[in-house]
Amino acid sequence: MQPRLIIHGGAGSALDGKGGVGAVRKSLYAVLDTVYPLLLQGLSSAEAVVRAAQLLEDDPLFNAGTGSVLQSDGQIRMSASLMDGARQSFSGVINVSRVQHPIELAHHLQQSDDRVLSDYGAGELARELHVPPYNPLTEQRLEEWRVESHHDFKKRMGSVTAGVGTIGAVALDQAGRLAAATSTGGRGFERIGRVSDSAMPAGNYGNAHAAVSCTGIGEHIIDEALASRIVVRVTDGLSLSAAFEKSFSEARDRNRYFGAIGLDAAGEIAWGKTSEVLLAAYHNGETIGDTLQD
Ligand code: GLY
Repeated sequence: MQPRLIIHGGAGSALDGKGGVGAVRKSLYAVLDTVYPLLLQGLSSAEAVVRAAQLLEDDPLFNAGTGSVLQSDGQIRMSASLMDGARQSFSGVINVSRVQHPIELAHHLQQSDDRVLSDYGAGELARELHVPPYNPLTEQRLEEWRVESHHDFKKRMGSVTAGVGTIGAVALDQAGRLAAATSTGGRGFERIGRVSDSAMPAGNYGNAHAAVSCTGIGEHIIDEALASRIVVRVTDGLSLSAAFEKSFSEARDRNRYFGAIGLDAAGEIAWGKTSEVLLAAYHNGETIGDTLQD
């Protein structure tokens, strides 16, 4: 089986603050250039999406890991999940602080009896694993928070919410196994304790038939159970493109705001959005392409 890989760096209204199409494309292609050859060398889809997510978490352009947005109290709390489609096994961390790669914790939890941990428990796990403390704050995110705090978090909240999204990766490996990973700093300026879709099967899901990672307004993704909805449709016989089309048509009718990327077991790649832009790029086994416009 020729491997496939699709990744995203969020969905939103514009590329403002991200350095334009060129900068986003460069960041996304660098991840494909690193991870796709590993799939060709036999890396599993689960390992590949974790590797891709780590690289995206390290890129301050995107709202995950380094460069995560701040919550209303000025703290960063991140969420991430891994879905191993071949084992149909979900694991994740919710609202974890002071780690560089939340996806690493989600990966570790695949082998655990307790597969989704929230804030305190996720922090304990990081300490148990001797994950070094890490501050993911960037000057730009701090400045955004400072500006917003002067306006009681109301002025730009809509555009920031819509503009920064999250990160994700979906892979099909040589053995035909699918996996999806998603990681986020959250919606930005949210209440303490708000839970993101990124560590729920609504935002990140897969099985032997299809795998999907979502980005956008978490509450909308949860309301649609988007990732699991698309995957179940494919499992029940719809093609991946038809499952995306149907799910996004329903979402448009309900004024949802998000995007998603996906793969099926035959190697079909699909994406959809109700937002203006979806920052995604893929390797289809032959060439690299993307969803960005020049
Ligand atoms: N989709 C990321 C979030 O809303 O938390």
